[in-house]
Amino acid sequence: MNEKQRSRIKDTLIVATSKDGFISPADGVKLPSTKWTSKEDYQFFTEKTQEIGVMIMGRATYETIARPLPRRLIVVLTRDSEKQAEAARRKLKMDYLPNNLRFTSKSPQEILQSLANEGYQQVALCGGASLYQLFTKENLVDEMFITIEPIEFGDGIKLFENNKIYGNFQLIKETPLNKQGTILQHWLRRLN
Ligand SMILES: NC(=O)c1ccc[n+]([C@@H]2O[C@H](COP(=O)([O-])OP(=O)(O)OC[C@H]3O[C@@H](n4cnc5c(N)ncnc54)[C@H](OP(=O)(O)O)[C@@H]3O)[C@@H](O)[C@H]2O)c1
Repeated sequence: MNEKQRSRIKDTLIVATSKDGFISPADGVKLPSTKWTSKEDYQFFTEKTQEIGVMIMGRATYETIARPLPRRLIVVLTRDSEKQAEAARRKLKMDYLPNNLRFTSKSPQEILQSLANEGYQQVALCGGASLYQLFTKENLVDEMFITIEPIEFGDGIKLFENNKIYGNFQLIKETPLNKQGTILQHWLRRLN
């Protein structure tokens, strides 16, 4: 896919991190981000993803939600889409998958292209670490909303393996979300 085709769909990365840059503590499975982020971040996340309308996430992140979300299409990346779709359907106790939940093994470029072909103009990239890294390495992220919570984990899953990724973006706005010190950063991809 060339740059012109890709620009038909805007890819917005949305993430919450600790003050020391982790998206999850070392025992993240027991402590999903919904358990340590602020209610203001939850509100931002809900409003922004509803406004965008499409969420892309990895299978492990989907399992922390394990259900479709209202007013959003969820596209889940997995290497075995049939098996995961079947598991989700059984978990939801439904004969068919709801039409706002999809499992796919396509590449990031193919996913964005087929969503663009369906008429979607923007997607929210909602994690986890493997997807944030996959999409940014392929230079497919146009903007980032990073909520920094006033908490330190000391260890855990980093947002990016290599902080050089930030060099591709420009911080354009920082907004305090509450009195506890939660900050929302808005980054835009630098134009080459
Ligand atoms: N702080 C935040 O804002 C935030 C947001 C989201 C997630 N998280 C945290 O991130 C952690 C999960 O991150 P994670 O990196 O372990 O998992 P993840 O990215 O959510 O999901 C990983 C899975 O995605 C699928 N996948 C990844 N790359 C793929 C590719 N190229 N092609 C096809 N499928 C692919 C694979 O599924 P299969 O194994 O089924 O093949 C893989 O096991 C959790 O602790 C979660 O709480 C934090």
